[in-house]
Amino acid sequence: MYVCICNGITDSTIRQAAADGVRSLAELTMRTGCAGSCGACADFAAQVLHEALPRNARAFELPILAAA
Ligand code: FES
Repeated sequence: MYVCICNGITDSTIRQAAADGVRSLAELTMRTGCAGSCGACADFAAQVLHEALPRNARAFELPILAAA
């Protein structure tokens, strides 16, 4: 299913990004463009990402990513 219409990002793409090491919405945006345009999908994209993360996954916040 499409999560981000602006950038054509699906839930499968988000799950694959999580499997590849993406741990935050900012990282997801930088990697895929998801939530990087109108932002309407941001909450749902973050939810899909959170559900896809491995149980012991931790996000290491980097100031530059918060500004993305
Ligand atoms: S729907 Fe994702 S940025 Fe617009």
